[in-house]
Amino acid sequence: MGHGIAEVCAISGLPVIIEDAFPEALKKAEVSIKSSLDRMKKSGKIDDTAYSSVLSRISFSSSLKEAVRDADLIIEAVPEIPDLKISVIKDITSSCRPDVIVASNTSNIRISTLADHATNPQRVLGLHFFNPPVVMKLVEVIKSDKTSQEYFDSAFEFAKFIGKTPIKVLKDSPGFVVNRINAPESLLFCLILDKGMARPEDVDAFAKGQGLPMGPYELMDYVGIDTVVHSLEYYSETLDREYGKCHYFKKFMEEGKLGLKSGKGFYVWENGHAKIPEAKPSSVLELLDILAVEINEAVKIIEEGVAAPSDIETGVKLGMNRPFGPISVAESLTNAEIKRKLLALSQKFDTKIFYPAKSIEDGKLREIISGKALKHTEETAQPASDAKAADGDEVVRLERDEQTKVARLILKNTRNNLINQKVLESLEKYLKQLWNDHEINVIVIRGEGDNFSAGAQLTQFFSGPMDFSENARLGERTFRLLSEIPKITIAEMKGFVLGGGFELSIWCDIRVATPEATIGFPETTLGLIPGWGGSQRLSKLVGMSRASYLILTGDRFTGKYASDIGLVYKLFEKTNIASETDRLAADLASRIAPVSAAMAKKLIYKGSEMGTDNGLEMESVAMGLLYGTDDLKEGISAFLQKRKPDYKGR
Ligand SMILES: NC(=O)c1ccc[n+]([C@@H]2O[C@H](COP(=O)([O-])OP(=O)(O)OC[C@H]3O[C@@H](n4cnc5c(N)ncnc54)[C@H](O)[C@@H]3O)[C@@H](O)[C@H]2O)c1
Repeated sequence: MGHGIAEVCAISGLPVIIEDAFPEALKKAEVSIKSSLDRMKKSGKIDDTAYSSVLSRISFSSSLKEAVRDADLIIEAVPEIPDLKISVIKDITSSCRPDVIVASNTSNIRISTLADHATNPQRVLGLHFFNPPVVMKLVEVIKSDKTSQEYFDSAFEFAKFIGKTPIKVLKDSPGFVVNRINAPESLLFCLILDKGMARPEDVDAFAKGQGLPMGPYELMDYVGIDTVVHSLEYYSETLDREYGKCHYFKKFMEEGKLGLKSGKGFYVWENGHAKIPEAKPSSVLELLDILAVEINEAVKIIEEGVAAPSDIETGVKLGMNRPFGPISVAESLTNAEIKRKLLALSQKFDTKIFYPAKSIEDGKLREIISGKALKHTEETAQPASDAKAADGDEVVRLERDEQTKVARLILKNTRNNLINQKVLESLEKYLKQLWNDHEINVIVIRGEGDNFSAGAQLTQFFSGPMDFSENARLGERTFRLLSEIPKITIAEMKGFVLGGGFELSIWCDIRVATPEATIGFPETTLGLIPGWGGSQRLSKLVGMSRASYLILTGDRFTGKYASDIGLVYKLFEKTNIASETDRLAADLASRIAPVSAAMAKKLIYKGSEMGTDNGLEMESVAMGLLYGTDDLKEGISAFLQKRKPDYKGR
């Protein structure tokens, strides 16, 4: 962890000293950093110059005293042995400047236990990185009852500065947030084996079938069964004696079956991969059982004032690589459902650890996850759904350029700009904000990076058919705004334009694309249908015959083909599509009267849904309305005076 954290700091431009008591560990650290930078270079994330300058910022030392003497921030990452950590913290704080932050990367040990042995304990806090630090965005910033607010705030800003997404852990309770949410789950999976209820491979097959990236036993093998056992022992001493009920894992550890690191655990490991025997998804658990246990622990964390709902949600998503956290899942379930599940689990596994937390028992789930039931601090009163997104958590960015009268909505959720509920809500919010914005005439929808959007985030949690159906309605409602908003909308199609991403583009007024863009509706090959208006709108644009073919085959096609069939208006090369689209948008924004664009859109879209008589009637009424507008007067006088019009949208 130490060399990973040092590498992150150096990549962010900070000079770092790595100190280790063992010279061979320093050599290993250097090799690991170089191979990590090599991988980044290979994938084009850094070039030769960046590679050398990152390395030039890292130095190595075998003297703790010298390493910490002039440091502005010190992070210890020695093994998780309380006495060792205490002695290292003692040594650091007696050798460094009195005003610098002294942080621990401990996974479990209470920060106040360490601070008690430090000079100036108010500057001791936790900066808990996740493995591997270069990849994982999450950092838990942990406050003990001795940490001063000033140091805590500075550490939070530091985590942001090095490109991480920090969450605030307001009390140094065992396991902090992410490991604590995991704690009862580890016990649950141990008890399943203790009671001989299922085989690891069958439970893993079930979990993966539910969309989890890795089965729980495979994950524990990966982390190390000894680590899991030590954590459970620690929780039995600090949280609840019943965490000591687990026997199976202890037996495995005693037999030296530690998982990946020993080559054998629940599975045999070869070349970093588990050889999982053929399995039949187990029915010992339902997905809701696992989710209920997580929600229960999240509620306990909020009740204890350890963290705010929004931080718990962010922590679990980023720390466990999940598309959703326990708070958003709880928002889609009822108190009664969760309580019933927990009571049943508590009985089935004979432990009070799964017994409903007080707020769930009292029917106050909604209140507690909205943050309203808390008296604790102003931070804890922040609900998950309407919390201000943390930096790096933004899924759509709005750029407004009053000079050109063009706004850009830039999708930036995950590498492929996947669309989930949060993206839809952000799009809806920004489109409504732009609705009456008279400084903006044209809106460009763009994807950050190489892709427009690879579609809907399929791993989002839905509690049932109605929930899924409502999500479809939310997509239709949001995308429809693009065809109704009184502005010209342009979709910039590049890279992947698939499924929900393709649907987003066909709700826009104008489409431009790169010739090699990969477009299509793969839904029918996944047991779905284009559910955000695609089944209705594509045929209006390209005719029923082509739409049937494209939807029923799921075939992908290129931007060039889209242009040939008239779906795309203009092709731009990949290297300059952004500047060309901006140019087109600015040109339209300066030439087209906003009132005309708004009226024309209505006539085209509504007209396509009604008979010719009514359409023509609407057209003549629209002409009458335009007659009195300032834009018409301006358009005609600019034409006669041979100058550029200055439309006001009135
Ligand atoms: N491994 C993970 O996944 C992970 C994730 C988050 C946090 N952590 C926490 O990070 C810390 C380190 O974990 P790790 O997995 O990197 O352990 P590790 O054993 O891989 O590394 C610890 C390093 O500390 C060095 N060391 C030992 N005694 C020392 C001393 N007195 N002074 C200086 N250096 C000393 C060792 O030589 C070794 O290089 C632990 O507190 C752990 O709980 C680990």
